[in-house]
Amino acid sequence: MSLHDDERLHEGAKRLFESPRSFSWNLVSTRLTQFSYFDEMLGHPEWKGRKILDFGGNIGTFLASAGDRVDHEDYWCIDINPAVLEQGRLTYPRAHFVHFNRYSSQYNPYGKRNQPLPDCGVKFDIILAFSVFTHVDKKEMVESVGALRRMLTPDGVLAFTFFDPWFDRSLSDPSLRRGATVLRNLGPRGRNEMVKRARWFVVIDDTLYVEPGDAMCHQTRKGRPHESYCSFFTSDLMKSLFPGATIHAPVCREWQHCCVIRN
Ligand SMILES: C[S@@+](CC[C@H](N)C(=O)[O-])C[C@H]1O[C@@H](n2cnc3c(N)ncnc32)[C@H](O)[C@@H]1O
Repeated sequence: MSLHDDERLHEGAKRLFESPRSFSWNLVSTRLTQFSYFDEMLGHPEWKGRKILDFGGNIGTFLASAGDRVDHEDYWCIDINPAVLEQGRLTYPRAHFVHFNRYSSQYNPYGKRNQPLPDCGVKFDIILAFSVFTHVDKKEMVESVGALRRMLTPDGVLAFTFFDPWFDRSLSDPSLRRGATVLRNLGPRGRNEMVKRARWFVVIDDTLYVEPGDAMCHQTRKGRPHESYCSFFTSDLMKSLFPGATIHAPVCREWQHCCVIRN
């Protein structure tokens, strides 16, 4: 089965009340909207000649979406899944694909916990992460964002996406019914007052955890290999976690918000 990640997540959320789980996960991304999405979020910057890091860039489909607007030599992809990196190297031999052997129950279940980010030996003008912090807990997102900021050039920019559970997807995709939020998608759970008040929550396989503590942190708990792990953060929480960042509503028919941090 090959499903676009957003749809997989949508499916995963829809199936909250179904058990046992009956679908497998394809870890190869087929998304082709990353370039146009970030180009708009960043105000159409000059891409040529800029060093770009695609954090969690999977097989590098960002390059396919960018066409000739990005030189492959200037593109680095760091990912925790060695298999997708191998595919990226074959497809884009002039680009740089770097393995980060960090544990993730969903994407790298045999990796090491609390691994520091690899040093690529270069500072980046633009660091992007599309649908990566949608699969980690709050603590890991804050730590990773701090580490990525240290990899920026003095005037560099970091942009990464997140799922705001309150976002009405029909605003970016008119084919959807009004009010198509993650909360509605959660069914009766989405109407639960605790869930509605939550600043963040995760859905691991079929179970929803509201603002889970350290014991449930990705780098602490023992997850089922290749389980589905999806996280949701409100825009208000993101503003408080990253003061000085700008938060943008989704564009390009995507339903992920963007957090932009400029040095
Ligand atoms: C949903 S996919 C998105 C892939 C790609 N960015 C795109 O937009 O198509 C998430 C990707 O992030 C990678 N990933 C997950 N957690 C990560 C982490 N902590 N550090 C780096 N990559 C991570 C996964 O291996 C996977 O390739």
